[in-house]
Amino acid sequence: MDIKTLKKTAGQMVAKGKGIIAADESAGTCQKRFDSVGVPCTEDNRRAYRETIIAAPGLEEYVSGIILFDETIRQETTDGERFSDVLAKKGILPGIKVDMGAKELALHAGEKVTEGLDGLRERLAEYKTFGTMFAKWRAVITIGEGIPSDACIHANAHAMARYAALCQEADIVPIVEPEVLIEGDHTIEQCYEASVAALKKTFEELAGQDVALEGTILKASMVIAGKKAAKQSSVEEVASETLRCLKESLPSALAGVVFLSGGQSDEQATAHLSAMNAGGKHPWPLSFSYARAIQSPVLKIWAENPNANVEKAREALLFRSRMNSLATMGKYSEEMEKERPY
Ligand code: G3H
Repeated sequence: MDIKTLKKTAGQMVAKGKGIIAADESAGTCQKRFDSVGVPCTEDNRRAYRETIIAAPGLEEYVSGIILFDETIRQETTDGERFSDVLAKKGILPGIKVDMGAKELALHAGEKVTEGLDGLRERLAEYKTFGTMFAKWRAVITIGEGIPSDACIHANAHAMARYAALCQEADIVPIVEPEVLIEGDHTIEQCYEASVAALKKTFEELAGQDVALEGTILKASMVIAGKKAAKQSSVEEVASETLRCLKESLPSALAGVVFLSGGQSDEQATAHLSAMNAGGKHPWPLSFSYARAIQSPVLKIWAENPNANVEKAREALLFRSRMNSLATMGKYSEEMEKERPY
């Protein structure tokens, strides 16, 4: 493990004004997203759509890294250039999702554990040949009647720590993502409690595997009421409860925190991030690693006419990336949405 390299990469991932785009939708998720806009989810359509994002000129101003899926890292632009090389040339770090998905947790109805440790050392070695600098592993925590259980939180945290150790052994920065799902009717207090429990256990297990936190990035869900909760959370509540949760749960040595959007609207995700950063400095840089909250308008515009709409889709991509870049500095306001090019 080369701690200097890990620290440098982690620092680049959360550099001032920059964040990460998650474009690592698995085959199943991609199918859902393409179905929602009526485009057949063929390999070439996925490739063409991802080229729209990856090769967008100027994206490097706001984006430090893009998380790719296994299929995508092997794909090329129409001009025959590997996607990972296109990114590297622009100074955007190529990342890779390495988990194999969340599967039913045995003996725990309604809960999941993420798999993917088998053969991971070898897969990481191969991904390095594509210039991969960081990786992502997502665990899923569900709030419900009597859940999350300790067993679920522990199993996920332990697997995540073993994944992170394997990444660092290969000088790849691990993003650890214990996502507390927004689906459900839970209160913001229940979300707070589940988030603290999941985060504390994650950092306990990372310490147990000797993972260097200066070379690790946390991908966190925000503390927010469930989508079906009777009382929805305000921007101020989400910002203050999320910050309180992070301060209670994270060691200060951690290199940075990037948020997922998790089903929030594009504007909400940006507003929440900006509100957190408007309050001044925190022990860690707070940035974004959104998939839906950046890609929704991009996919919609592209899907209307994949041959003709690449430029229009890229304008939407740059706009949402710029809004989120401003949010990392606490400088976004709802007013700015009036400049939306879509
Ligand atoms: O792992 C989750 C994704 O990378 C983030 O996706 O912003 O749509 O929740 P999302």
